[in-house]
Parts: sequence; structure tokens; C-alpha cells
Amino acid sequence: MSGSAANARIVAGNWKMHMGPSRARAFVEAFRHPEGREQVEVLLFPPAVSLATLVDGLRGRGVQARLGVQNIHPEREGAFTGEISAEMAREAGARFILVGHSERRQIFGESPDDTARKIAAAFRAGLTPLLCVGETLVERQAGRLEEVLGRHLDAALSPRGIRDRIHDGERFLVAYEPVWAIGTGETATPADASGAHAFIRSRLESLLGDGASGIPILYGGSVKPANAAELLNAQGVDGVLVGGASLDPVSFAKIIDGAP
Ligand code: PGA
Repeated sequence: MSGSAANARIVAGNWKMHMGPSRARAFVEAFRHPEGREQVEVLLFPPAVSLATLVDGLRGRGVQARLGVQNIHPEREGAFTGEISAEMAREAGARFILVGHSERRQIFGESPDDTARKIAAAFRAGLTPLLCVGETLVERQAGRLEEVLGRHLDAALSPRGIRDRIHDGERFLVAYEPVWAIGTGETATPADASGAHAFIRSRLESLLGDGASGIPILYGGSVKPANAAELLNAQGVDGVLVGGASLDPVSFAKIIDGAP
């Protein structure tokens, strides 16, 4: 499954630390899923404090978006001030979890081992992980793209229990997010994205064998209405993960409209 016309695309919005409950409410009230694009799977990752508002707002309006959280602590519960667990996120209405976002890795020091523990916690709680991988500009310029992507994937999938879950049919998503394209206005070309996605697909195949075939690979980094359609149509691109342009219901809907 990779970017062929037959596969429904995924459009995910990562709101980061934007959109508290009142703005989240305004978003759902204004959002219209484009007609004729009902097959596109829409995911939203709001701040955890806005989950309840979205659960309520989506239910009332029949909007087919599914919700996730941007981070969890790997333990179930305990003395971890400021953290939430996968179980709590699920109870609050989340069905997905972003793991390994470059902002978590770079600003909050999330290690490859943390990433694997969070994926295991997500499966334990019944959440679908969306693992983000990507290289910095310095790494890209040094010709280390594949080394970095490989390292991120190997670490995330190193625990046997995680690979078994995926083999047993648990859903797992990957996003290629080149760090130099996040929030910068710089976008990878469709050819850049296709090249990286092909590498990710082959690494997933060597780690998971036929368990890799159902894993969608999304592209993320300065996706906006003007470039969404060409990225969503690029070879090997199964969807997009959108930051800034997902905060506005009109531009988010235009991105969904760009899906084949
Ligand atoms: P951006 O963010 O679309 O604002 O570049 C993407 C992301 O970080 O997921």
C-alpha cells in the first residue's frame, strides 16, 4: 500500500501548542469535510486539554475526524507530575498518538528508547502510534538521510513486542518529516518525499517482512493548500501530516480536497 490511486489517503493535523478549548470549538463549528472526499481519513492531534471539546463537537456535527494526542508518558500512572498516560488519553477520546516528533526529540530530549517505550504503551492502551522520523538540514547536507531514517525506524521497532503487535495486525503509521521543512515554509519536493518514502518502505520491509505492507507513510513539513495535491499524489505518499495549515478549518479542508 503506497500512494497508489486505489488507497484512501490520510490527512492529519498536528495542532502543537495551539488551539485551547474555545478555539477548538470554533474550528469544529467552521470545519466542512469537502464533498466527494469522504474516503479521506482525517486525524486531528489537538492539545490534550482540547480533546473533550473536540469529542463533543465532532459527535454533535457528524464530522468524520478521529482524534489523537501529541505525547504520552510510557507508564500507566504514577508520580509523574505534568504527564498523561496512554490509558488516560484513550479514556478521554484519543485513538492515535504522535510519537517521535522532531520537536519532542530536539526540544524535550526524547530518546530513541523513549520512542519505543511510548509505542509499546500506545499498543498496550489501544492507541494507534504515528511515528515521525526525519533528518535535519545538517544531516541531509552530510548525505546522512538514510542513516538517520534507518536509525529512527530501527530504534522504534527494536522491541520484539512491538514488531509482534504489527504482525498481528495492529495499525501503525509512519510520517516522514524532514526537520528542515517543519514550520519553515521549505517543502520537500514530491521527488524528495518519494525517495525518502521508498527508503522507509524498504526498511520497514526488512524489519517487519510482510507486516510492513499495510503501514501508511505520510509526508509532513510545510504542507499547505498550494502544495498538498502534488504531495498527496506523489509516488509512495499515503497521506500528509500538517502543522500550521491545520489550524485554519478552511485551509485544512482545502488540503483534504487535494487528495486523489
Ligand atoms: P508544519 O508542521 O506543517 O507547520 O511545517 C508539520 C509538523 O510538525 O508535523
